Amino acid sequence: MPLSELSPLNRQAFGPDFIWGTATAAYQIEGAVDRDGRTPCVWDTFSRQKGKIKTGETADVACEFYDRYVSDLQLHKELGFDSFRFSLSWSRILPDGLGPANGGRINDLGLAFYDQLIDQCIALGITPWITLYHWDLPQALENLGGWPNRKVVDWFSDFTDVCTKAFGHKVKHWIILNEPLAFSILGYFTGQHAPGRRSLRNLLPVIHHTTLAQAEGGRIVRRNVPDAQVGTTFSCSPIDPFTPKDQNAATRVDALMNRLFIEPSLGLGYPTKELPFLYGISKKTAKPGDMERLAFDYDFIGLQHYFRAVVEQSYFMPYIWAKDVSPLRRNVQTITEMGWEVYPESMYRVIQQFSQYEGVKKIYITESGAAFFDTVQQGAVHDVARVEYHQKYLQQVLRAKQEGLPVEGYFAWTFLDNFEWAEGYRPRFGLVYVDFRTQQRIVKASGRWFQQLLTTEHSVA
Ligand code: NOJ
Repeated sequence: MPLSELSPLNRQAFGPDFIWGTATAAYQIEGAVDRDGRTPCVWDTFSRQKGKIKTGETADVACEFYDRYVSDLQLHKELGFDSFRFSLSWSRILPDGLGPANGGRINDLGLAFYDQLIDQCIALGITPWITLYHWDLPQALENLGGWPNRKVVDWFSDFTDVCTKAFGHKVKHWIILNEPLAFSILGYFTGQHAPGRRSLRNLLPVIHHTTLAQAEGGRIVRRNVPDAQVGTTFSCSPIDPFTPKDQNAATRVDALMNRLFIEPSLGLGYPTKELPFLYGISKKTAKPGDMERLAFDYDFIGLQHYFRAVVEQSYFMPYIWAKDVSPLRRNVQTITEMGWEVYPESMYRVIQQFSQYEGVKKIYITESGAAFFDTVQQGAVHDVARVEYHQKYLQQVLRAKQEGLPVEGYFAWTFLDNFEWAEGYRPRFGLVYVDFRTQQRIVKASGRWFQQLLTTEHSVA
């Protein structure tokens, strides 16, 4: 559909109940990594290892959100967002990683920080959305084996129990995991993310324990906070074949990238037909009763969408026998600083794809955004490419919504420029520019664009 035929954007078009938020993650913004009893997480360790972070940086300071959350949330409110998604640092709350049920202790100062953050949100009329796990496993638990150790399901359950008991009376929107595919595969198979382990042996246990923890976490939130909306998030991309003969390759990559973690949670099992190596889970990794335990009835699914992928057959990639055809090779002009193709229609396609599951009742776009090279000129950041990105991707969200698909919210990634994992601080995704030398915040044109969309009746398309 040509863009000109898409509806102009104004808040009213999305309806009064549509959720507007930004998304963040503890490790990427908080800083204060050794304050008030917080112990290291795997990213603290990983970022200190030579060559792991492209820029050699750590998130020791990041956006100093730990100290600046009051004024930052005030700014968030001014931009018109009524929901704020953030994650809890596990090792701030449980310094040994272990909770009381496993012989560990709770750090009251860690809980106090989040308690104040939540209160501040509520005082400003911002709905807090908590992500329980956004990749920062306590180092103490990694030392005990990390995600390949089946005990992680108990450790995570215990953490979930502590957090929901502490905040469940005030927080009603809970997200169990952030992008399981990313932390399991990149963390334990390819080694590009913390803890940086590369092993074939870990792959199936990590996948299976992640899926079990995902469902177990859901059950605990439901038990402790019966009136909560419980969801979990998945990274997703439509996968197109490079040439017609690459269709099977595309089907396999789709199974890996889009289906692997959601299908077991919907009671559909692992996509073994397309990815036969996953048979190893039921043969070797799983215990009796596990396959039933993988399912949980989520109230919503969070989709995190940035780009589409185009793939071709490859005999060099074990298991999926396919590889990415880069935007560069395809002569794509519109790419972000991450090298990701800007392809707005892919937003519509993922919503469509995930709506087809019977068990998916409601979808929130829990992340979407773009990194571009931003410069400050006379105190302002004119990030027109980012404005265009959000505008075009949101038009596709609206298109899906107008066709009756159950998409009910959009969280821009992200509020503040922050620590982009193995890329360091260089890629800036924020609606608000952060000068990392002075911690000064400058609202970018994209932040103002959202402000106009959300706080006025004018159309901004
Ligand atoms: C996915 C992750 O959840 C988030 O932490 C990351 O910064 C963004 N996407 C951008 O890569």
